[in-house]
Amino acid sequence: MSVTAVIGAQWGDEGKGKIVDFLAQKADMVIRFNGGPNAGHTIHNEFGKFALHLVPSGIFNPKTICIIGNGVAIDPKILIEEIESLQQKGIECLNLKISTKAHLIMPWHPLIDSFQEQSRGKEIGTTRRGIGPVFADKAIRVGLRVEDLLDENKFPQKLLEVYSHGQNILRGTNWYSNEFAYNRVLEKYLFYRTKFLPYIEETEFLIWEAVAERKNILLEGAQGTLLDLDFGTYPYVTSSACTAAGASQGSGLPPTAIDEIIGVVKAFPTRVGSKEQPFPTEMPKSVADPLRKMAGEYGSTTGRPRRIGWFDALLVKYSAKINGFTKLAITRLDNLTGLKTLKICYGYRTPDNKIISTLLMRGLTFSDLNQVKPLYYEIPGWNKFPKKCKKFSDLPSQAQFYLEVIEKMVGVPIKLISYGPERNQIIVK
Ligand code: IMP
Repeated sequence: MSVTAVIGAQWGDEGKGKIVDFLAQKADMVIRFNGGPNAGHTIHNEFGKFALHLVPSGIFNPKTICIIGNGVAIDPKILIEEIESLQQKGIECLNLKISTKAHLIMPWHPLIDSFQEQSRGKEIGTTRRGIGPVFADKAIRVGLRVEDLLDENKFPQKLLEVYSHGQNILRGTNWYSNEFAYNRVLEKYLFYRTKFLPYIEETEFLIWEAVAERKNILLEGAQGTLLDLDFGTYPYVTSSACTAAGASQGSGLPPTAIDEIIGVVKAFPTRVGSKEQPFPTEMPKSVADPLRKMAGEYGSTTGRPRRIGWFDALLVKYSAKINGFTKLAITRLDNLTGLKTLKICYGYRTPDNKIISTLLMRGLTFSDLNQVKPLYYEIPGWNKFPKKCKKFSDLPSQAQFYLEVIEKMVGVPIKLISYGPERNQIIVK
């Protein structure tokens, strides 16, 4: 048995869904532990192409128990639509379990999110799914949890308790509409209740049982370490814990039970959100634009074009330190085909001419990242990429070298290499 956490090492969109879908073929349990419908995990497999926002990527294996953990914020409408669209494609979702302790996104949360984006001095470029406001309400203890849906008779009172809080904030925005009248919200959430009931569980108990029975468990992270509320590029971060530590907190699985922590990196990092967000290795438009088009680098939740950069080994090393990565999985290696030269950032030059090249962030804040000049190690690219690669030595020799340099700089072995969207386009090293 093993318990493995799959964690984004950059700013999300690293391809965690593909890695979890691949590993889930042998998993007894997959647990989503953070984020909410801001995530979009893209998966191509024998059932088709899917962009999952809330349902764990293990859902395609009917033997795998899929848990939406307490650390996830759930928009009931989005989750129900997702379950129904999976069911239409023949995926029954009978193995889905929703934690009683997960928080519910209420209709006002996305609106407050949009309003705060406009009224905040700096635009963060959120997905406007209500993530900041729902986690803020959780922290100030005015949130509704999935368990509040269980008792139909008590729910109206529970809703009333959070309702006036939500309405007070909403009124301040002048965006109040009848859609938010108490009775309408009550009716909607009682309907969601009927849809949710078959899935609600005290999931931490299922997880402890699975650990005791030495089952294979996967923890599926959303977003990435550099978007983590504490360790990411604050304030340009999300509002949940995206790290391996968050995997415990957001599921109830004891930290000591985790055996492997896989950091997922994309061969070229991307970012979505406002332009002010620091991204030291961002590529010039002339390189980024064709790569974005060819690789389809647009947000799977919002459709926004992603900014694209060269591999930043310093930031990934920082992620490796925070998470204690035991392995790396690299994705989208094939998309770099055709670039004459590839750059890997090994250090930064600060405006006062200091070189930062080993452990980042000592004496450098994340906002300083907008001022630094990246220092690159340049290697030749490759022109052709084979359609099928079974082993490391099947890769173009320059691609092998690219991976070896990254491994050396980050100090963590690359054990999974994904070179295409399909489930079988992966090398296990
Ligand atoms: P929020 O999570 O919607 O509040 O957005 C906060 C920041 O995190 C924004 O810059 C988003 O673009 C970014 N973000 C949130 N979820 C994802 C994701 O799944 N992939 C990439 N970026 C994300």
